[in-house]
Amino acid sequence: MSTSIPGTNENPQTTSPNTIGNGASKPSKGGLEGIVAATTALSKVEGTAGRLIYRGYNIHDLATTTSFEEVAHLLWFGHLPSKAELADLKAKLAAERTLPTGVLKVISDLPTTAEPMDVLRTAASAWGASTIKGKPTIEQAIALTAHFPVFLAAFHRLRNGQEPLESRSELGHAANYLYLLSGKQPEQQHVKALDAYLVLLADHGMNASTFTARVVASTESDIVSATVAAVGALKGPLHGGAPSKVLDMLLEIGTTENAENWLRNALSMGQRLMGFGHRVYKTEDPRAEELRALARLADPQEFVLARRVEELALALLEEQKPGRRLNTNVEFYSAVLLSSVGLPGDLFTPTFAVSRAVGWTAHILEQVGNNRLIRPEADYIGLTDEHFVPLDAR
Ligand code: ACO
Repeated sequence: MSTSIPGTNENPQTTSPNTIGNGASKPSKGGLEGIVAATTALSKVEGTAGRLIYRGYNIHDLATTTSFEEVAHLLWFGHLPSKAELADLKAKLAAERTLPTGVLKVISDLPTTAEPMDVLRTAASAWGASTIKGKPTIEQAIALTAHFPVFLAAFHRLRNGQEPLESRSELGHAANYLYLLSGKQPEQQHVKALDAYLVLLADHGMNASTFTARVVASTESDIVSATVAAVGALKGPLHGGAPSKVLDMLLEIGTTENAENWLRNALSMGQRLMGFGHRVYKTEDPRAEELRALARLADPQEFVLARRVEELALALLEEQKPGRRLNTNVEFYSAVLLSSVGLPGDLFTPTFAVSRAVGWTAHILEQVGNNRLIRPEADYIGLTDEHFVPLDAR
């Protein structure tokens, strides 16, 4: 049963003992599990059914049939675009794919060993400081989203001793990102795979980074501050930071023969298997199903190992963590797919951010459209009646 955080724009639906807020008891499991933090018309995550909906559309109907730009339009404007609307949005995104000199300088001054998520956070912040003023708008959301791949590709090229490239306005979001990274005309198969990935990751209910963005937006801060905070939240391995660790795991395992020993050993040491488990999904994550099919097509050879590791991991998790219902999450096959289109592991999480920029900004706009400061409470468990001793007497 869900309850609401007082101080959000949510209408309380229940009076469960899980309620947090004025004088009420704390949530039973911690981590705000089961607490409703907002109302949203953007996406619905059905954890038991394993269903994900963007504004009424099942993700399975969108995954390989729509482009990232169509889904961005759906989330920002509330409906799938007509051809004219899509062309308009594509033109707006293309016009914003620039690398201002000041931001290039900031990126160039960072060490080449910096983590790309830190670079993205820093570059977005620097860009916003000189560009963004006032209340969040859709135009700002488009501009911010358009810049993410530009910042990342510029850093990637600089760290490899190459000059950043100019965006190509005739390319879509996925194709231009691949072009900016490699300087080569991207393969159509790679563009399709990355585009589908970007569609699948664009929004996902009240996940940790989206909640972060909404909290910042609820203070009437700006869209860049809210999005940069979300980038910080996404970075951790319990959220968007998992896929490069999935790749590390697959590389370490190396062969299907080695998989069971490796996984048993990791579990016996108390390690979490990256790419498995989810706070909301208690069955397979529907994005994992789509990504599995895409990964199989994108790299049939790598897929064999990944599939074997997945099967064994699921069996071992069931054996060693019975009843926890730990299934494959979005990150497992994201790693296989992103690797197959040529991305290095440390760009996996930033590429998640390239997609989720749409969801974050859509949530920020939704929050400011019906805002109330998000301000929950904490159950104080410390001392209350200490006798104060002045510094000289301590
Ligand atoms: N491997 C091994 N054990 C696990 C895993 C895992 N991947 N996930 C959960 N568990 C176990 C925990 O150890 C715990 O066991 P216990 O009851 O014996 O202590 C139990 O399952 C419940 O774990 P919680 O941490 O309470 O589950 P929660 O819902 O908070 O966590 C999370 C969800 C963080 C995603 C978790 O499953 C995890 O750490 N997975 C691995 C990291 C990962 O894949 N992250 C990407 C998530 S998808 C996304 O955010 C985009």
